[in-house]
Amino acid sequence: MPIVLTINGQKVAAEEGTTILEAARDVGIHIPTLCHHPDLSNVGACRMCVVSVEKQRGLQTACTTPVSEGMVVDTQSEDARATRKFLLEMLLSDHPNDCMTCEVNGDCLLQDLVYDYDVAWPEYNGLRHTYPIDPDPNPFIFIDRNKCVLCSRCIRACQEMQNRDVWSFAYRGFETKLVAGADQFLLDANCESCGQCVAYCPVGALYDKMSLKTGRAPSVSKIRTTCSYCGVGCNFDLNVRDNRIVRVTSAPDAPVNGMALCVKGRYGYDYVHHPDRVTQPLVRAKWLDAKQIRQRVADGTWMVANVAEKRVQPAGNGIDSIVPDTFIQTDWNAALDVVSHKFAEVKKSMGGDAFALLASAKCTNEENYLFNKFTRQVLGTNSIDHCARL
Ligand code: SF4
Ligand code: SF4
Ligand code: SF4
Ligand code: FES
Repeated sequence: MPIVLTINGQKVAAEEGTTILEAARDVGIHIPTLCHHPDLSNVGACRMCVVSVEKQRGLQTACTTPVSEGMVVDTQSEDARATRKFLLEMLLSDHPNDCMTCEVNGDCLLQDLVYDYDVAWPEYNGLRHTYPIDPDPNPFIFIDRNKCVLCSRCIRACQEMQNRDVWSFAYRGFETKLVAGADQFLLDANCESCGQCVAYCPVGALYDKMSLKTGRAPSVSKIRTTCSYCGVGCNFDLNVRDNRIVRVTSAPDAPVNGMALCVKGRYGYDYVHHPDRVTQPLVRAKWLDAKQIRQRVADGTWMVANVAEKRVQPAGNGIDSIVPDTFIQTDWNAALDVVSHKFAEVKKSMGGDAFALLASAKCTNEENYLFNKFTRQVLGTNSIDHCARL
């Protein structure tokens, strides 16, 4: 039997164990939150979600209070709104006035709440923290503790999603501080650089180091893609600015992985724009027609590759002295012609069973399906295997 309660004058039915926050969200009533995230356990750290509940003393945190029969909740009571505003004023009283240059400007939960509650920048000058910025030498995670609102989302993400338990709070009172391990550097505290803590941080306290100063949320386009590193098939968003990938961000609705990514998926994207990357086919000179090589190199559509020096050059004068094993950078049609002719030659002289093919977990299901069809139906062999079985 569902529990029936009233939220803002509206009758709401909810299952036992549901929190006020979940019951309200299910019927489209928004309650502001800061430390809550639906993927993580609720700890009631920030008090931003406070609501008034009839016949209960004081305000209740909607993210940790379960619904009960006949409960009457007011999410917009004067008391609740004033408390949220006061909490935001307190947070700003020890927060750098940095939004203009902050990496998460336009994608910051604190900024959104301050806007919604019309909180002015505090004019009094109380005690403020001045932690060193980016004090950790790890290559991936930027830390600015001055912006930390002590919500503990990073702690819970690392503990509950990644099972690493790297982060915790140390010291007490005003000195409370987010630390890795026993106040160590991240890599000394068993961090595996997955970046989950960054993904769950609601402000600019943790950020992806490789993406500093490359473009903020309003100036990038997000393109959903599937990771090409392994067969799990995680989805994420490539953040693209001026045709360059500047960051990878989690896609909360990704069916396989949700917000989770490993270090390769989240930070292993710089190869895409690396100058050494092979983006054109390379074909041995001996497999091409010598006359065609001369013509195409002369007109600049093919190049002679110097693999040892990792460069290609329009060979020009030295073309006649190209040794048979030299790589020529051709176009795709020419390269695929060579491959298809070689396949046909071997099949004709030795039959399909002369081939053995190995598929890869780095390909999509669709690519592996095509590979399978090509092996059996075009080459005419069943000698196909997959690296994941080895
Ligand atoms: S973390 Fe948010 S509120 Fe703080 S400076 Fe950055 S954008 Fe502004
Ligand atoms: S990067 Fe991953 S392992 Fe390291 S602290 Fe963050 S969540 Fe934990
Ligand atoms: S670093 Fe971010 S996620 Fe972690 S406690 Fe501070 S504000 Fe919260
Ligand atoms: S969101 Fe409920 S206490 Fe932080």
